[in-house]
Amino acid sequence: MAITPPSERLWWNEPASKTELIWIVIAFLWGLVMFFMMIYWHGAGKQNLSNEAYRTTPVRYARKSQAMIDAYTVRQENNYPVVHPPPGSDVYLTARLWQWWPILEFEKGQSYRLHLSSMDWQHGFSLQPVNINIQVHPGYEMVVTMQPDQAGEYGIVCNEYCGIGHHTMVGRIYVVE
Ligand code: CUA
Repeated sequence: MAITPPSERLWWNEPASKTELIWIVIAFLWGLVMFFMMIYWHGAGKQNLSNEAYRTTPVRYARKSQAMIDAYTVRQENNYPVVHPPPGSDVYLTARLWQWWPILEFEKGQSYRLHLSSMDWQHGFSLQPVNINIQVHPGYEMVVTMQPDQAGEYGIVCNEYCGIGHHTMVGRIYVVE
């Protein structure tokens, strides 16, 4: 919004300046490039799209997650259960306003089927610092097979804006030797 109104009342009818036209052309061409890259990236490039997804409900998903927490919690950290599921098992991470629940502990070199779903709104699973990103939706259960190859502490941040507490929505995954 300009501070002062345009001098001409019919401002929208003025010819566009050369600079503006150049930028419109650049933006349009870049949009076209990205449109075709979007198709290209489906086949090429190292994508980590989930190719396994199921319909679920928050209640059904929460039940499975709770069963895993009840069976494999090894300790508590700041009122979060730390869950150490058996290698090769199905692991349920829950996104909700504004938490990743629970904290998970994996063993290095072992493979896990990580399930992701949301209890409320759309969230974004972003694993740091390795930068693995997956959208998390309510009503859908995404399954990603993970095999951590390095021990350490990983952070999960939410990368889809989900309201006032979005920036506090952080979680943790431990990978132990
Ligand atoms: Cu959850 Cu942003």
